[in-house]
Amino acid sequence: MQISLSGQRALVTGGTRGIGAAIVEVLAEAGAEVVATGRDAETIARCREKAQAAKSPVKYEACDFSDAVAAEAFANRMGEGGFTILVNNAGINKIALAGDVDMADWDRVQQVNLRAPMLLCRALAPKMAERGYGRIVNIASIFGHVSRSKRVSYSTSKAGLLGITRAVALDYATRNVLVNAVAPGFIDTELTRSILSEGERDQLAAAVPMGRFGKEREIAMLVAFLASPANGYVTGQSVVADGGYIVT
Ligand code: NAI
Repeated sequence: MQISLSGQRALVTGGTRGIGAAIVEVLAEAGAEVVATGRDAETIARCREKAQAAKSPVKYEACDFSDAVAAEAFANRMGEGGFTILVNNAGINKIALAGDVDMADWDRVQQVNLRAPMLLCRALAPKMAERGYGRIVNIASIFGHVSRSKRVSYSTSKAGLLGITRAVALDYATRNVLVNAVAPGFIDTELTRSILSEGERDQLAAAVPMGRFGKEREIAMLVAFLASPANGYVTGQSVVADGGYIVT
């Protein structure tokens, strides 16, 4: 059995690099029409050029989710986009001990990781419910389930995203709108490379039962299943993909 997303229309936030770019690639390979978002106009222009050169049908849209007004206007506009799939993937991480947290950073993390996904659920889920079909996948983190030092802003945002996942799943359960989260462990992306030294990455990889970081496409394949009609009965869940890390 192969996952088919033919006839589906997907919105993937933060689809310009890392896990989001892999999700865009896999959903498009499965036949979905994909709109990917990124933070700034320059990145989006580069992605559009690349897509054109590769004759890829993926469309790109810019919106900085740390701008509350722009994020709300963008979400409302996307609500009219006829999407059957929403993947809330865009996310940021700020690392600090609780006593050192800069509250402007705290607000930015909650804005991008929690408020923007909520705005998109608010705008898109009712339209999916009206049509009687929809799949929403929120990219959370193992740090929504567990935590580690200096992760208070990030862990709070991702635990909140799990709350959104459960509550929105219940709001639209009777309308065939299934809402789930994927909680990745340590994945080799620009985000992890920017916040962890090589030594820290090696140490963490050794603590993972599978002995390595995950790959972006390993997360994307799981998202593709949850976002597809092949998923008929899983809703309100967080599926942890971490090489066994949090069960040790
Ligand atoms: P990344 O830093 O490589 O990519 C993040 C994406 O989010 C980019 O496309 C960027 O344009 C978008 N983004 C960031 N700030 C934004 C803003 N203000 N407005 C709009 N878009 C913005 O990150 P990565 O590693 O691919 O992570 C993707 C998601 O997976 C995030 O939600 C992250 O928290 C989550 N995650 C990542 C893990 C990892 O090990 N890399 C582990 C667990 C969760």
